[in-house]
Amino acid sequence: MGSTIGFTYDLKSDHPEHAEGPQEVLAELDVPETIDLVARALESGGHRIERIGNVHRLLERLPGLDVDIVFNICEGLGHRSREAEVPTILEVFGVPYVGSDGLTLSLTLDKVMAKKAFVADGVPTPRSFLANGKFSLKDLDGMKFPVIVKPCHEGSSKGISEDSIVRKKKDLKAQIAEVNRLYRQPAMVEEFIRGGEFTVLVIGNDPPEALEPVQIQIAGRLDLGDLVYTWRRLTSTDIEYVCPAKAPAGLKRRLCALAVAAYRAVDCRDFGRVDFRVDENGRPYVLEVNPLPSLSDEDVFPIISRAHGWTYEGLLLKIVDSARKRYGIT
Ligand SMILES: Nc1ncnc2c1ncn2[C@@H]1O[C@H](COP(=O)(O)OP(=O)(O)O)[C@@H](O)[C@H]1O
Ligand SMILES: [Mg+2]
Repeated sequence: MGSTIGFTYDLKSDHPEHAEGPQEVLAELDVPETIDLVARALESGGHRIERIGNVHRLLERLPGLDVDIVFNICEGLGHRSREAEVPTILEVFGVPYVGSDGLTLSLTLDKVMAKKAFVADGVPTPRSFLANGKFSLKDLDGMKFPVIVKPCHEGSSKGISEDSIVRKKKDLKAQIAEVNRLYRQPAMVEEFIRGGEFTVLVIGNDPPEALEPVQIQIAGRLDLGDLVYTWRRLTSTDIEYVCPAKAPAGLKRRLCALAVAAYRAVDCRDFGRVDFRVDENGRPYVLEVNPLPSLSDEDVFPIISRAHGWTYEGLLLKIVDSARKRYGIT
């Protein structure tokens, strides 16, 4: 039977104060086309959709929001627990929702904190350290160059470009200071992995299921070397998604197993996407888990659906069904 599904989301257009500045600030937020696409996909499963909007619109509707479950893709703005706002408020009011809870959303948004969970669970991830203002050579502790310097709690490749790759110790301090200054947050310095890049969508709960890995092609290349997935590239035609991936079956199996291990390490629910780099010897490393991956039709959801013989709508409905099952909603 169909449910009434509340839909919470953050639109770029909710933030006219940033309209003039660098558009990268709003990189994680959605455009109306994606909201319409998701709403139509959910409706195709016989559900009734109640569009709510961002956290402020949600607060205006509570208490008394009359929905069976909420489909939440709010990214929030400003602080590192921003993605936790909507799930936590829904819990206060006892409203079921699709996807991970506030703890997982905050943990995964902070790359350094998420790494602690990966390391504790034996999930391979590049060596790294946190650099807040100061840095000493001791912090490197035998790490190999090149390294990449990223803002600690951003997503959507914010603050990442080829300039983020540092090849010599003497240049590291300046790059860390640049990230600290521009993004007003600590930086994570991480060993840079040349080779290939993959992303794996995991869905469901008991047990979670890894779907066909997607290989990232940049500027026509699968062997990426020093190329990285940047926000500027994302808005150009430089990035292509290859699925099924052109990689050995053994590597694909390993990526799937590690994607599930990473998903479990940060306690994801219903869905999540795990980003990998694979070194020149074919060894995969988890870069991060995205419990709120982009649902845009320009991102990986359509190509993954096709590789499984499903539609985009079918994939989204499977995710909703795993949440309904968790709550015992029939
Ligand atoms: N350690 C690394 N080695 C190689 N490339 C990296 C590394 N870390 C990040 N990148 C590149 O930067 C991109 C964005 O980094 P990621 O950690 O996934 O952050 P975001 O949250 O912005 O997606 C990756 O998709 C990859 O191309
Ligand atoms: Mg990523």
